[in-house]
Amino acid sequence: MEQLSGEIFYPSKDVLKKTRVKDWNQLADFAGENLEAFWEKEAKELKWFKKWDKVLDDSKKPFFKWFTNGKVNIAYNCLDVHLDTHRKNKVALIWEGEKGEHRSFSYFALHREVSSFANALKSLGVQKGDRVTLYMGRIPELLIGMLACARIGAIHSVVYGGFSVESLHERLEDSHSKVLIVADGAFQRGKIVPLKAIADEALQRAASVESVLVIKRTGEPVNMEYGRDIWYHELVNLPMINSKCPVEELDSEHPLYLLYTSGTTGKPKAILHTHGGYMVGTYSTFKYVFDIRDDDRYWCAADPGWVTGHSYIVYGPLLNGATQLMYEGAPNFPFPNRWWQLIEKYGITILYTAPTAIRGLMRFGEAWPNRHDLSSLRLLGSVGEPINPEAWKWYHRVIGKEKCPIMDTWWQTETGAFMITPTPTVPLKPGSGTKPFFGLKMDILDEEGNPVKANEEGFLVVKTPWPSMMRTIYNDPDKYVEKYWSKYEGMYLTGDSARRDEDGYYWIIGRTDDVIKVSGYRLGTAEIESALVSHPAVAEAAAIGLPHEIKGNAIHTYVILKVGVEKSETLREELIAHVGHEVGPIAKPENVEFVDVLPKTRSGKIMRRVLKARALGQDPGNLATLEE
Ligand code: PRX
Repeated sequence: MEQLSGEIFYPSKDVLKKTRVKDWNQLADFAGENLEAFWEKEAKELKWFKKWDKVLDDSKKPFFKWFTNGKVNIAYNCLDVHLDTHRKNKVALIWEGEKGEHRSFSYFALHREVSSFANALKSLGVQKGDRVTLYMGRIPELLIGMLACARIGAIHSVVYGGFSVESLHERLEDSHSKVLIVADGAFQRGKIVPLKAIADEALQRAASVESVLVIKRTGEPVNMEYGRDIWYHELVNLPMINSKCPVEELDSEHPLYLLYTSGTTGKPKAILHTHGGYMVGTYSTFKYVFDIRDDDRYWCAADPGWVTGHSYIVYGPLLNGATQLMYEGAPNFPFPNRWWQLIEKYGITILYTAPTAIRGLMRFGEAWPNRHDLSSLRLLGSVGEPINPEAWKWYHRVIGKEKCPIMDTWWQTETGAFMITPTPTVPLKPGSGTKPFFGLKMDILDEEGNPVKANEEGFLVVKTPWPSMMRTIYNDPDKYVEKYWSKYEGMYLTGDSARRDEDGYYWIIGRTDDVIKVSGYRLGTAEIESALVSHPAVAEAAAIGLPHEIKGNAIHTYVILKVGVEKSETLREELIAHVGHEVGPIAKPENVEFVDVLPKTRSGKIMRRVLKARALGQDPGNLATLEE
């Protein structure tokens, strides 16, 4: 890439010559005018057991259906379809552990592992439609377990390994999971996270779980409850479990997974995605945005426990027959060159990561990446939060050597796939995800629903349906309508604020609701507050996000103690640890400030914006609704 003018980075001749989509405008115009034809063309590149009757059924909006009455299975398209091609013995997954151990799976091997795993689940009584929760670190069994569920029509619900007792408990209960698949533990920066022990605590109050399948990762001793817990390696080696497992032919709209995500109020909600539409969306976005090629070595450094890992570690890459790396550990352990070492070792061509990781690695200086040969890279990606231009330029210059376009992809758990994103030939502006993906119409509106002027801030909305859109909130369809489809008639409300410049490029500003993005992870103020209030010393609590140089945002909390409880440094530390234990280490507040009152509206709602303004030394704005 050569920089031609100001802040615009144009694609190099090489990128222009080799990229699939040469004329972005042409495809965007076609998809814009022929939404269904565009998605039908994409769907036809995949295998269906029975073709759909209709591409899009919008008769019960906002409960849209895609590829109605089609029969399909996403796991079949991830694995089986490649077995009759040159990809049969191609490497699908290379895995490296934190300590440097290495495992790899061809498409043939992954198919075998997934089929055996699916049979193991069946032997535990798992049937089509049953929910199965998975709780582990970044190990191949997570991906294999998810695909095994999909193969037999069970619905997976992955709980990120960085979550703790209460988060896991809530998710097991809400999903009514029949089986929990858990690792004995996870390695993290040389230490062990005792996942099975955390699960044991969560399971005490999760009545629906009949069996617990335990994956051996750390080898540390764990408690095994007789009649409930079973080692995976023992079960799968029984003679009755073989590696032939017929694939379920499912309705396009059959649920594929639940993924819990933090919202404005109350407990996290389960976003529901389906086999057909989600498959087409992740397949197509991965293909066009990363312009995937057969000889690529792709690496998404996210965790499969988040939507990025679902769509762009598990499904998108395998649907496209790609070769990818999964790495278990942290970017800077034991040294800040760990990632750069992996890129050199495996000849990674595409790196997809988050701004927080880039900022975190940037602070160690250029010497670390410069010790490694990163010349295999041809494309970079960013996701999870706005990327500040300084980090963008460092990523572009130091890692991408000014030749790799950066795909800044804006999307959400709810959208399932990329929504605002460039493709490699689109001119880039650091900090902007450029324009909506093919077929999408988006806008930025003011409070009354009028489009705002160029460069003005407003609510980001989507005006057209897309195949990988969430179908509902599991167990709460009313909330789905209320939260996403009721502010503006017929439009999907993203919850983000944004602006659009004169060239039509979108710039995301941040969340408009009480969701805090910490290191790209999504947390609700409500979760943190309820964890604090569950401590016997706490009467009331409020949580806000404040800007943080590396994490993007950090959590700050305000606590009113119960009468008679003394403020102390020890108590402050205890409360921080308590949130870590309840929600997970990622939710640990940066700070707990003891206060005597909290700003509230007359109806008793905490006014977090007032706390935020005070912390930032800004004007709190309109205080008309503030209680005396
Ligand atoms: O605020 C936006 C931010 O992440 C939110 C979605 O979070 P989650 O559902 O956890 O999914 C994250 C991974 C897709 C959005 O509402 N966000 C995500 N990607 C970007 C972003 N903000 C700015 N730029 C991005 N590329």
